[in-house]
Amino acid sequence: MPALTPPLGGLSPKAFLGGYWQKRPLLVRQAVPCFEGLIEKRDLFTLAGKEDVESRLVLRSPDWQVASGPFGRRHLSRLPATNWTLLVNDLNLHCKAADALLRRFSFASWARLDDVMISFAVPGGGVGPHADSYDVFLLQGRGRRRWRLMPPGRRPFSLLREAPLKLIAHFRPAEEMTLDPGDMLYLPPGWGHEGTALETCETYSIGFRAPGATELSTAFLDFLHERGFADGAYSDPGRKPASHPARIDEHLLREAGRTLAKIRWTDGEAAEFMGRYLSEPKQQVVFEPPARPLSPQAFLRSLRVSTVRVDPRTRMLFRAQRIYINGASLRVERRSATALHELADDREITGARLARQPTADLIYDWYRAGFLSLEKNR
Ligand code: SIN
Ligand code: CO
Repeated sequence: MPALTPPLGGLSPKAFLGGYWQKRPLLVRQAVPCFEGLIEKRDLFTLAGKEDVESRLVLRSPDWQVASGPFGRRHLSRLPATNWTLLVNDLNLHCKAADALLRRFSFASWARLDDVMISFAVPGGGVGPHADSYDVFLLQGRGRRRWRLMPPGRRPFSLLREAPLKLIAHFRPAEEMTLDPGDMLYLPPGWGHEGTALETCETYSIGFRAPGATELSTAFLDFLHERGFADGAYSDPGRKPASHPARIDEHLLREAGRTLAKIRWTDGEAAEFMGRYLSEPKQQVVFEPPARPLSPQAFLRSLRVSTVRVDPRTRMLFRAQRIYINGASLRVERRSATALHELADDREITGARLARQPTADLIYDWYRAGFLSLEKNR
């Protein structure tokens, strides 16, 4: 599959990453020319009514109000004509066009990409001035939105105390711009921004993942726990009578410190953890295995004349001969690795490339799990 063109105007990914990524905002006029959005309003409202879809409604009249979905269609259709916005996360898991849009950002690597969120807003709607901790591309769909930006200062922004959202208390925008359909604004983490719908409009946010140190360390300790820690009983043969039975004594602390200092891991274990962690699917994801799966023989025949497509919900990454798929890890033979790398990179591959054993068995298992599907070549 040819690499999809990154929507960066004339800029190459290299120039973008070198000059703007994590450094400064970039406005790309007509990043997606003739862009008419990815989803119709009625389909978006249907999504916002689903239990397994994360949605929020933000109202500003006169105070800020936030509600979490799902939302009934009647509720949505009775909202006022101004000052609200509906946000739906993970649009790429439910809408093929959004998945295809996300894939155009492959230059930033799958391990870093998170999701496409849509915000549908009526005039005056927005989520207020705030800063995000991740990189984001804001692609304007139908309608116009005004963005105002405030660069990060030396200290984190102070936040409004009594708002149900994390809003910047003293928002002093340094720049203002109006985005028309197809325009796109890149924002590095930490930049204050406020988007306000000038008319009924929609914005697609292509967001990135950046697991914080706390999140990563907690998950790593869980991983080490699963792997097992070196065992050893606490001992204090020289114990003296306690004059204060409630006091934690120095010996106990020293022993505990020695035990904790013995926690060790190898670079290989850290890499293994990262592969599993980064390929873990989103929390709400449930895979749908085929209702009537093909037999292994019929699958193999079909594989030879089909294209294999990775399900949008599947996270597939690799490192050398290790393949990480939806939180699982496996080592494959060198001759299988090349085609599996291609499948992970491009998210699709000609089935004939995988129709040899033992790769075909692997693909069959993933097909049975609903991680990928076959589409007959025409
Ligand atoms: C929005 O599109 O209204 C919110 C997106 C963002 O500010 O990150
Ligand atoms: Co934001």
